[in-house]
Amino acid sequence: MSTCIRNTLIIGLGLIGGSLAKALRQNRQYGQIVGYDRDPEETKIGLDSGVVDVAANSLVDAVSDADLIVLAVPVKAMEKVLVDIAPFIRETTLITDVGSTKANVVEAAVRVFSVIPPGFVPGHPIAGSEKSGVAAADSTLFEKHKVILTPLAESSSKAVNVLTHMWESVGAEVLVMTVGKHDEVLAATSHLPHMLAFSLVDTLAQEQDNNTDIFRYAAGGFRDFTRIAGSDPTMWHDICLANKNALLAQLDRYTAGLANLRAAIECGDSETMLGTFTRARAAREHFSRILSGTAYSQLMTNQQVIFRAQPGGSVSGKIRVPGDKSISHRSIMLGSLADGVTEVSGFLEGEDSLATLQAFRDMGVVIEGPDAGNVTIYGVGVNGLKAPPGPLYVGNSGTSMRLLSGLLAAQAFDTELSGDESLTKRPMGRVADPLRLMGAEIETAENGRPPLKIKGGKALKGIHYDMPMASAQVKSCLLLAGIYAEGETSVTEPAPTRDHTERMLNGFGYPVSQNGSTASVKPGNQLHATRIDVPADISSATFFMVAAAITPESDLTIEHVGINPTRIGIINILRLMGANLELLNEREVGGEPVADIRIRYAPLKGIHVPEDQVPLAIDEFPAIFIAAACAEGTTIVTGAEELRVKESDRIQAMVDGLKILGANIEGTEDGAVIEGSELSGGTVESHDDHRIAMAFAVASLRSTGTITVNDCANVATSFPGFVELAQSVGIKVEREEG
Ligand code: S3P
Repeated sequence: MSTCIRNTLIIGLGLIGGSLAKALRQNRQYGQIVGYDRDPEETKIGLDSGVVDVAANSLVDAVSDADLIVLAVPVKAMEKVLVDIAPFIRETTLITDVGSTKANVVEAAVRVFSVIPPGFVPGHPIAGSEKSGVAAADSTLFEKHKVILTPLAESSSKAVNVLTHMWESVGAEVLVMTVGKHDEVLAATSHLPHMLAFSLVDTLAQEQDNNTDIFRYAAGGFRDFTRIAGSDPTMWHDICLANKNALLAQLDRYTAGLANLRAAIECGDSETMLGTFTRARAAREHFSRILSGTAYSQLMTNQQVIFRAQPGGSVSGKIRVPGDKSISHRSIMLGSLADGVTEVSGFLEGEDSLATLQAFRDMGVVIEGPDAGNVTIYGVGVNGLKAPPGPLYVGNSGTSMRLLSGLLAAQAFDTELSGDESLTKRPMGRVADPLRLMGAEIETAENGRPPLKIKGGKALKGIHYDMPMASAQVKSCLLLAGIYAEGETSVTEPAPTRDHTERMLNGFGYPVSQNGSTASVKPGNQLHATRIDVPADISSATFFMVAAAITPESDLTIEHVGINPTRIGIINILRLMGANLELLNEREVGGEPVADIRIRYAPLKGIHVPEDQVPLAIDEFPAIFIAAACAEGTTIVTGAEELRVKESDRIQAMVDGLKILGANIEGTEDGAVIEGSELSGGTVESHDDHRIAMAFAVASLRSTGTITVNDCANVATSFPGFVELAQSVGIKVEREEG
């Protein structure tokens, strides 16, 4: 980008101004760097140490020549400097500042300029150190730091662009927000913590008898406070005055929280103490992940994950796959709404269900774990949820967003539900529309996409809803809303879909009645805490069932798999294709049927998949497409248009990938026609969809060359440990991180 800046003037060569001057001087994109400091000694040091190209002797001359002016003076001095320079600023000159509060800088500018110049864009680099003065200037100070620009209504977009580029050129990441938002955010995240540090260190230092000991034995935590308390007192004095109102509001919130904790300690209230500590720890993890742009699992980082699967191998052994995703989500939701303590075992520690778990922690529920699949939920009762501190971020999880929307539409507080890039493309009108019929107020982005902004305090009314699509998520959403709605809420489904919500509500003692294809709830009942044993997820087991079914000499047993009749489409479909599949040791665990599934190789044949099986196998189609490509003859899938709005367009993703592997396959609007074919190697795209990634890894068992699958990080949403488990049974897949 050509900046057309020939002269950049930095007024104030303290740490920030000096560091910016030095960095800009090094990158040579902002013309001559001219420095001015009201202390001539500082200006001279700046020149002598190479921080600036030119030391300005006359501020007036320097301002008249400047194309870009950066005001790096203390916030309190800003108005005086503006008064001095305003008459000499040219019309095209760009002006910004680095003050750590913004409303007062803007107020000063309004007083000084009769009309705010279009080149004025206030800014704030979130960087600094305890050092000060031009001698401490550090050209790397802004690298990987955030800079907030707060454009005004008068600011031109050109000015915003040039200043964005300027900060990026010194390694910073630029965020844009309003002045008000900036001051509120900074009061909470910077000004309040500084107040706490100053006050704590001051208080402890005043303890006459043992203050040396306190400092001598200072452990890590306290040392951090003393570091922050080492910041410049005058600057902080000015900030307190400049951002008084926002800071006072944060101090009040904090003192109330502290008083609460004090009271809990005084009367030994473990629940409040543990609640505060657990929530705080979880919040820290949550925010670090949001900030690094990743979701929830410990292993996830922002990196690229690729699966590379060598051809051949066979599949044998006895395995257990992770817990059922649908049941895991619901265990957290209903456990949170129950009275009493719910113990969950077998919980899926995948990112999707962890997203739900975090959402409830954000709404004040104390949840311990997960620890080896065990979770303890201290239920708050049907009306016990609290307003979360910010938007509920649910990552990749459609189930979290859709089910939560029903629950949240009925709460007293406002909420916002947001998700990752894939989820942001998925349709939410299917839940927002019927919820609106119940009286909910929900705002979506264009075309009913996330984020969802849900207004609290709405009295919902029960409705009868004929679902236009077979969706367990929509059904569950409405039933959860129905717990709070006046009168009866009933949902009729066009075809059976998974009924975990109905079963689990009944398991918690909350009556749900079933009349044919209609499920109904009434308000006014309580949920009573219970134990939940989550069976292994049949959708995860599917990849291994298909692996064994397509590979000669395979013999695999998958233990403790949930075989709820609304989920066994995959068993029915594989059997119709000729698979050798046995259900052993059938039993019921906590209201859900479970079995061990033994599957041995037998040649598969193509079929027309019965449409009534489609909703019962809705998540299994990526793997079914692989089975079909390895079967003899033609497999036809119809009535499966829902696949186009899953984590990816699963019809397109499978058609594209299988074509790359040489299969003879054509996509249709609602399915595909797949000829049994020999599969070659190749590189396929998962489109960030966990099930597409796993399906293609399994295809390698029958391919003649290596299959590389791109963008597999999201496998962690539903199946942590997939690669290791696949390797343990004989699939030659490796995970590579880039
Ligand atoms: C789910 C329902 C299904 C399924 C999803 C989980 C659930 O979605 O695809 O993975 O837990 O209720 P739809 O109900 O939208 O088909």
